[in-house]
Amino acid sequence: MSTASTLYSAAEDAAMEAALEAALAGPRGANPLVGAVILSPQGEQLATGYHRGAGTAHAEADAIFEARKNGVDTAGTTMIVTLEPCNHVGRTGPCAQAIIEAGIARVIYAVDDPHDPAAGGARTLTAAGVQVSSGLKSGKALDLNRDWFDAVAAKRPFVTLHIAQTLDSRIAAVDGTSQWISCPESLADNHGLRGLIDAILVGTGTVLIDNPRLTARTPDGELSARQPLRAVMGLREIPEDAAVRGTDGRFVHLPTRDPAEALGMLFEQGVRHLMVEGGSSILSTFLAADLVDELIVYLAPTLLGSGTPALNDLGITTLADAQHWSWDEAGGGAVRILGNDLRLHLRSPRGAANINRNSVSQTTAARGEAAEYLTGGN
Ligand SMILES: NC(=O)c1ccc[n+]([C@@H]2O[C@H](COP(=O)([O-])OP(=O)(O)OC[C@H]3O[C@@H](n4cnc5c(N)ncnc54)[C@H](OP(=O)(O)O)[C@@H]3O)[C@@H](O)[C@H]2O)c1
Repeated sequence: MSTASTLYSAAEDAAMEAALEAALAGPRGANPLVGAVILSPQGEQLATGYHRGAGTAHAEADAIFEARKNGVDTAGTTMIVTLEPCNHVGRTGPCAQAIIEAGIARVIYAVDDPHDPAAGGARTLTAAGVQVSSGLKSGKALDLNRDWFDAVAAKRPFVTLHIAQTLDSRIAAVDGTSQWISCPESLADNHGLRGLIDAILVGTGTVLIDNPRLTARTPDGELSARQPLRAVMGLREIPEDAAVRGTDGRFVHLPTRDPAEALGMLFEQGVRHLMVEGGSSILSTFLAADLVDELIVYLAPTLLGSGTPALNDLGITTLADAQHWSWDEAGGGAVRILGNDLRLHLRSPRGAANINRNSVSQTTAARGEAAEYLTGGN
């Protein structure tokens, strides 16, 4: 296998850029964002694929499928992919095998797969006579999934934090009412996410105040086919008749106030993508501990003036210590209008470390009417 010092052609370089761009269309979560492009021996981009999230075809298989659909012969072509092709049979087949069966002669990937059960695809390909090299645009590929690499290295779930809030950052009114701050479109979006994640978590406070079900439901109220594990964190007992217990056995009480311990317990149970749903104390404890990878905020054009703030103290006393989140274009964009709400998608200060903060205003400025909401004032 060659290394980053290998010289790549302009066509291969451009194909890797296209693969990185394609990867961004997928959702963040249990699996990394991955994009793939099949290149002809003449350097023509024949097919593009990307990964649409856990349980769906990997980028390589998606590109091969796309090629076949369009009658493209993949024999003798080059596969350009942002992550080492996987070697394992998870919910989908191993990509290394699909590449071999497609007669692809050469594979150029950006970064190794750090995930134990999936790693080793390059070795399998090489053993089958496929020419393999890696390192092309590895910096960009690492940045694309930096939060996911962090979560894998720390052996904890990838953490998405969800906030449904008013314009003045309230998640409930003084009397405790909070259903619903978001518009139906935002609620539907949230329930779509619930159907993709492995687990959803709230604090004991939310259970005692709201008695939520925390199930994934379709817009007409039916249970979705895939349900997350429902987790409640905190020391108080969960009432026997709490709705969150459900009847399907997919409920767990985490008797701790330590977010890292809670993540460890969930990881042990096989959870690889967790959505932290609230309330303020729980949101704040995960943020203060730097244990959030992705932030999804549904911002309703509503004012309360008082009530439960979205966040409590994060332990920040000076602006120099502020958390600078970064707009995330993955999975549908950084800023979307959903019904009457704005849906904001951000990645953690860790993941954003290499991104120029000026890109925030460039991103929003490119977003037409949504930018109007965000760029006014300072
Ligand atoms: N709009 C939204 O998106 C949304 C979503 C969810 C909730 N909410 C609203 O949020 C409000 C509830 O917020 P909340 O802050 O009272 O409840 P919470 O965050 O759900 O739960 C707070 C409780 O969690 C436990 N806990 C566990 N770890 C903790 C830690 N590290 N620090 C502090 N507490 C910890 C504590 O109880 P123990 O004594 O049991 O340990 C604490 O009292 C409700 O009004 C609900 O409607 C809004």
